[in-house]
Amino acid sequence: MKRTILITGGAGFIGSHVVRLFVNKYPDYMIVNMDKLTYAGNLENLADIEHKANYQFVRSDITNLQHINTLFHEYRFDGIIHLAAESHVDRSITNPLDFIHTNILGTVNLLNAAREKWKGHYAEKVFYHISTDEVFGSLDKEGFFTEMTAYDPRSPYSASKASSDHLVRAYHNTYGLPVIVSNCSNNYGPNQFPEKLIPLAINNIKNSQPIPVYGAGENIRDWLYVGDHARAIDLIFHKGKPGETYAIGGNNEWKNIDLIRLLCRLMDEKLNLPAGSSQKLIIFVTDRAGHDLRYAIDATKIKHELRWEPSLTFEQGLKLTVDWYMANEAWLRHVVSGDYANYYEQQYQQRGSLHGD
Ligand code: NAD
Ligand code: TYD
Repeated sequence: MKRTILITGGAGFIGSHVVRLFVNKYPDYMIVNMDKLTYAGNLENLADIEHKANYQFVRSDITNLQHINTLFHEYRFDGIIHLAAESHVDRSITNPLDFIHTNILGTVNLLNAAREKWKGHYAEKVFYHISTDEVFGSLDKEGFFTEMTAYDPRSPYSASKASSDHLVRAYHNTYGLPVIVSNCSNNYGPNQFPEKLIPLAINNIKNSQPIPVYGAGENIRDWLYVGDHARAIDLIFHKGKPGETYAIGGNNEWKNIDLIRLLCRLMDEKLNLPAGSSQKLIIFVTDRAGHDLRYAIDATKIKHELRWEPSLTFEQGLKLTVDWYMANEAWLRHVVSGDYANYYEQQYQQRGSLHGD
């Protein structure tokens, strides 16, 4: 094997797309997927590649230093792509400590292990930390986030990711650890846990359940298809420069309410429903506390330096996503149970419905 790569959080939404891409594209790499399998981690995401010779799954927790050290002792990692995290803003509002623990402490454990094990060999190694545009805070109607934007996180989730980004860069500055950071906008696509807006709406429309829109639905997000993010991660891992940051975005801003209406139209077509049927499910519920108004990325740097661009239009990506969720009933059934079902009730009972569309 030419290189051994550790991917953390590889059983989650984005991680599973990255693992699949690397396992299939680089047969001479050994890909070690390390994941705790929280409610968001699901090995069904990787059923198609789990028997490949260049793939190995290890169930472990990044907050457990002893486990991390054992893993680094067992494998000689040439690179790390770190995605493991608690990732949902609403959960971070309910339970911030889980986010501090996993996102900050877990990242520091990996940094310490890499710093120790890679001593004397930094030139051949890469520690690639996957982060979010939410660390930059909230934009007004104008302007974009770039690699130079000052951090201004406003939720426990984004504050925990910002802390981990700072620590990653501090290890570069202080110890010379070869780190790369990327900050990406909202992802969507197959395998996303249906607590996030798009899969939640698809699942609810499919089951004729209300679609909860926070506040007036005026908040804006910049959406990127997950496969395009995975391609960017591949490029950055192989061609990015240590110490650098890359902002990744879809150049695709949507108000939540407009996005939901588009999704309703696609679902009407898919389910052969009369036009306008799914829209009737929209309800407006109490807004998220501290809800960031707008995120938008200027991805000029990665476009120019690494020749990366999104490959799909939003309509193409959403169609693929809808098709995937409709074709994967069993996957949805399995994830919408147990822990998630309890969480869902807790979130939406306390919000209540304010009024219909
Ligand atoms: P996800 O919640 O779907 O997956 C997270 C994965 O991490 C899960 O498989 C989970 O089991 C694992 N995990 C959680 N805690 C762990 C621990 N203590 N030890 C080991 N594994 C653990 O998240 P996602 O949407 O795939 O996001 C992946 C990464 O990308 C995160 O770091 C997130 O901050 C970042 N990101 C996400 C988006 C987005 O829109 N989803 C956008 C930009 C950046
Ligand atoms: P989400 O998918 O949670 O991503 P993030 O908060 O990380 O951007 O939410 C996307 C947008 O959709 C955000 O503005 C909050 C909103 N939203 C709703 O209106 N209703 C919902 O049920 C959810 C989960 C989100």
